Formats: sequence, C-alpha cells, structure tokens
Amino acid sequence: MTGVARRTVASPQLETERTTLRIGREDDAPALVAYIERNRSHHQRWEPRAHSSYRTVETQRRVLVRRAYDFEQGTAACFLLFERGADGGTIIGRANFTELVRGPFQACFLGYSIDGAFEGKGYMSEALRAAIAWTFEELRLHRIMANYRPENERSGRLLERLGFVREGFAKDYLFIDGAWADHVLTALTNPHPERVALP
Ligand SMILES: CC(C)(COP(=O)(O)OP(=O)(O)OC[C@H]1O[C@@H](n2cnc3c(N)ncnc32)[C@H](O)[C@@H]1OP(=O)(O)O)[C@@H](O)C(=O)NCCC(=O)NCCS
Repeated sequence: MTGVARRTVASPQLETERTTLRIGREDDAPALVAYIERNRSHHQRWEPRAHSSYRTVETQRRVLVRRAYDFEQGTAACFLLFERGADGGTIIGRANFTELVRGPFQACFLGYSIDGAFEGKGYMSEALRAAIAWTFEELRLHRIMANYRPENERSGRLLERLGFVREGFAKDYLFIDGAWADHVLTALTNPHPERVALP
C-alpha cells in the first residue's frame, strides 16, 4: 500500500440473510480444496488452469496464509462464503478483492465464484452486496474493477445487478483456461465519495 498512512482494519465477519462471509484462514485449507475439486469442471472455463499440486491441502494452506498476510498488509481482502450459520463448514463460494492500490487510484480488482449447487439462487449477489459495502466503508476505496469474458453471461448479469458499469473491452486480456481471452471491463465507484481515503 502506498501514499496513505495505513490504519488497522479488523478482520470482517459479514452476515447476510443466507450467507456468512469472512477472510479465509489457514485451517480452511481442507474445505477449500474440497470446494475447488467439487467445482473443477464447473469453474474451469472461467479460471486460469492450475497444476494438480494447486488442489492439495498443503498448497491451499500456503495460499490462505499468504492471503491472511495480504489482508494484514492492506493489499487484499479474500472472503470465503458459507451458508449462514455454517462458518467453518462447507465453503460455498469465494469473493476476492485483490491488488489494492492506494495513492490517487484507491482501487482494487474483484474476482468471485459460487459452488455449482448454489448458482442461480441469488447467493452470490447477496454476498457480494455485503462484501462491496464493507470494502467501500472500511477500506475506503474509490473503485472496484471486475472483468468478465463476454461468453460468461451469468457473470455479466451479476455485475449489472450490482451496479457495475461497462467501461471497455480488452482483447486477449487474461490467460484463462489455456488461452488468451477477451474481457469486458467494468467498475463500480464508491457511492459515498466523501468517505474515500485520500492520498
Ligand atoms: C458468475 C457467478 C458467480 C454468478 O452466480 P449466480 O448464482 O448466477 O449469481 P446471483 O447470485 O446473482 O444469482 C442470480 C440468479 O439467481 C436467480 N435467483 C433465484 N432465486 C433468487 C433469489 N432468492 N434471490 C435472487 N436471485 C435469485 C436470479 O433470477 C438470477 O438468475 P438469472 O441470472 O438466470 O436471471 C457463477 O455463475 C459462477 O460462479 N460462475 C463460475 C465462476 C465465474 O464465472 N466467475 C467469474 C469470472 S468473471
């Protein structure tokens, strides 16, 4: 984080009508591997290809430790989603606010996925509404950017539902599922600009 004195932000536990969200912990690794395995074919088309070692408890433990460190450093907030009241049980989704930049930008990227069994039921938009409100309020960002492949109509509808605005189109933007893929670029700005952190 650059350009602003960092203040300590407490690790959030967010409750919505049907979901609980919190920052992942090292001991979530087995449940996270189970989530990744369960959704492997369902998510494959929309995610970077990973080596089989990625789907091991050891690797995911390292990923979670790194993400917890990133949260402490103020450079990311990576949430795990649970059904409400089932915190620590089965993971049903992820919402990652990453590459947080301060200075005159005050922005981050958002990535997300939901378990196939919970898709098409409004869980992700419900959870993201809470996570986005927290991010704007507590991290005091100005802009959240989220980009999707044009074929990913569900993702496009989700972002539109949340108020993200289409800003452009990037050819060969990310290496996804084994090839460079075009993406639609969207962003959401803080509805309370007076609360945004200043450089
Ligand atoms: C992208 C993704 C998160 C969208 O999930 P989703 O479940 O469609 O999103 P929402 O939570 O907004 O659910 C909305 C859908 O639930 C339906 N729904 C059913 N019951 C509902 C309820 N009680 N409340 C709200 N919506 C409800 C809505 O009608 C809507 O369906 P529609 O889009 O067909 O009209 C999901 O498809 C996914 O994980 N995909 C794979 C990974 C991925 O693509 N990640 C993003 C890469 S850019």
